[in-house]
Amino acid sequence: MAANGAVKSLPFGVYVHIPFCARRCDYCAFATWTDRGHLIERYLAACRTELQRADLPAVTSVFFGGGTPSLVPGPALMDVLAAVPPAPGAEVTVECNPDTVTADLLRAYREGGVTRLSFGVQSMVPSVLAALGRTHDPDNVRRSVELARAAGFETFNLDLIYGGAGESLADWDRTLREAVALDPPHVSAYGLTVEPGTPLADDPARHPDDDDQADKYLMADAVLAAAGLGAYEISNWARPGHECRHNLLYWSQGEYLGIGCAAHSHRDGRRWWNVRTPERYLEAVEAGRSAEAAGESLPVEDRRLEGLQLAIRTREGVPVAALPDDPDLEGLVDVRDGRATLTVRGRLLANEVALRLR
Ligand SMILES: C[S@@+](CC[C@H](N)C(=O)[O-])C[C@H]1O[C@@H](n2cnc3c(N)ncnc32)[C@H](O)[C@@H]1O
Ligand code: SF4
Repeated sequence: MAANGAVKSLPFGVYVHIPFCARRCDYCAFATWTDRGHLIERYLAACRTELQRADLPAVTSVFFGGGTPSLVPGPALMDVLAAVPPAPGAEVTVECNPDTVTADLLRAYREGGVTRLSFGVQSMVPSVLAALGRTHDPDNVRRSVELARAAGFETFNLDLIYGGAGESLADWDRTLREAVALDPPHVSAYGLTVEPGTPLADDPARHPDDDDQADKYLMADAVLAAAGLGAYEISNWARPGHECRHNLLYWSQGEYLGIGCAAHSHRDGRRWWNVRTPERYLEAVEAGRSAEAAGESLPVEDRRLEGLQLAIRTREGVPVAALPDDPDLEGLVDVRDGRATLTVRGRLLANEVALRLR
């Protein structure tokens, strides 16, 4: 209930998965394909159908993720958005690869109701981008940010990856400084993860080193904090007011509907996920069937623990009583006003802390 007595609706998110990419990065395990361009139109129509069939409350955040949402025509993506009933002031994010961004595309997004962009920057050093198998260069990034501002986007995110093969500390420092020079309201920085089944997994010589990644995490936190971006989750920094509401929903075990192949949903205490390939997704939706592959209802105790594991990674932290009085936690958590939050060193060892949650 809001202060004026009106019933305030709970946040509810919609995630739309766009499983198309121009080229596959060899570290990426997301459900995405480079040879299914001929399916785009049918796929977006199926997403609209799935949305129209869903019984949706007013939606407070929409996230188009991928794959590469910015690869599909802007007006067609906005037709999908039009099938979502928005709550007033809803946040709508589109993930964009910098080499697909044009003024026309961003204009279509603005007119369609997109409020936030997330650019897959990864690095600002050409040799590191090449080693990651990326197709854009740092100039694409600078141009994309200029176009975003010119189109009226006040909020956008830069996604960065650290720990790729051949990336020196000086390279990472350059990436951070050039990213900050673009004055982004939000930055996500992820340690490169070796995902099973990817070409990177088969090439141990290119696997990241834990100590190197720890050093780079500390550099990221220092440079971003100095630029006025506060860590509000282990891998996410934002200027006040520019936190991603859609991700906050995930981290607080909120409810959301996942649309499209491989998309995950959480509603009424149940979780489920859709079939993985675009073909199987189309087959199901076009035949009037649900695209659900499988689902589960988590026991209450597992849910409670999972809630703590997510919360400890955020600036909100957990109630002090959720952690034991353990000398091993010395220096890893700060306790204030009855809440325990991770210190910077604690963020490096978050899994160790999470193991002790009770
Ligand atoms: C699934 S991608 C989609 C966005 C867009 N296609 C792109 O790559 O720029 C979302 C983000 O996940 C991150 N990511 C993907 N695979 C990763 C991996 N193996 N390790 C760390 N970060 C990864 C990248 O930073 C990427 O920007
Ligand atoms: S990282 Fe992004 S661009 Fe690369 S394959 Fe994965 S989804 Fe596509």
